[in-house]
Amino acid sequence: MDLSGHNLSAKRIVSMSELSVADIDLILDTAKAMKGISEREVKKAPTLRGRTVINCFMEPSTRTRTSFEISGKRLSADVINISGSGSSLTKGESIKDMMENLEAMKPDLLVIRSAHSGVPLQVAGWIDCPIVSAGDGRNEHPTQSLLDLMTIKETKGKLSGLNISIIGDILNSRVARSNLTAMKTVGCNVTVCGPATLLPRKIEKFADQVTTCRETAVKDADVIMTLRIQRERIGQAKFPSLREYSKHFGLNLKVMEKARKDVLLLHPGPINRGVEISPEVADGPWSSILEQVTNGVAVRMAILYLMTGGVRQN
Ligand code: CP
Repeated sequence: MDLSGHNLSAKRIVSMSELSVADIDLILDTAKAMKGISEREVKKAPTLRGRTVINCFMEPSTRTRTSFEISGKRLSADVINISGSGSSLTKGESIKDMMENLEAMKPDLLVIRSAHSGVPLQVAGWIDCPIVSAGDGRNEHPTQSLLDLMTIKETKGKLSGLNISIIGDILNSRVARSNLTAMKTVGCNVTVCGPATLLPRKIEKFADQVTTCRETAVKDADVIMTLRIQRERIGQAKFPSLREYSKHFGLNLKVMEKARKDVLLLHPGPINRGVEISPEVADGPWSSILEQVTNGVAVRMAILYLMTGGVRQN
């Protein structure tokens, strides 16, 4: 693949607000081409031979961490994985010192996940190595948003003009935050829905519609994205019980009867079956939840390729 002449405007991907429509199109077009590599018998291309990617995950992850590692390996990069608990952070080293030390080993890209909002942006101010956020606190999860957009575009054939409803814990969701920005950039009409206690203040500035009624959010949606309750980020009870939450905001077969027949159902994972989504809906005909995971590899391959220079000139 030769994309010489096509470059991302950004040297870092820490927020969807820093990506233009052209950047998003370039990443999604590149991801479409990259997806083919994962469908080959030999899932490997020499494209990033000689490049080094360090994945630094200071918060648990299954999908994002594994897919960044697979992406680098499928493109023949040298991939190093570090977890917070296995690093010298546990001995009192600061994140700044840690990142400066990692940069001293001359990686071509650092992928960072943190439980604290703003860490990837802060690191980008400390070191010159390109940074990609793999999710930071409640703040942003840009590569998740890009794989969501890829899945929507693949299924619906377009992004602009679609009605998207995001249902759940909007307050604590970095996925909602990145998607609200990205979906606005590409021209979607976005409704957010959740209990009033899980909707951020001034949310109406960022969403086209805000509702606390699940049925209103479901009706007329081209795409429904349901979100997990971020129990690790909720300090005190925001609703009476998970059972009560599920009764009013969970997606079950009865609720899905009110949706369009061709509605696309997404969930960033991990899913809590029986809470925000019933097993019948998660595994039902509307669901592209596992396709999102497949597309996560393609999008991250595209990002590694575009961020580390793509085709080598020498
Ligand atoms: N969607 C997502 O970020 O999942 P992980 O936490 O498993 O990476």
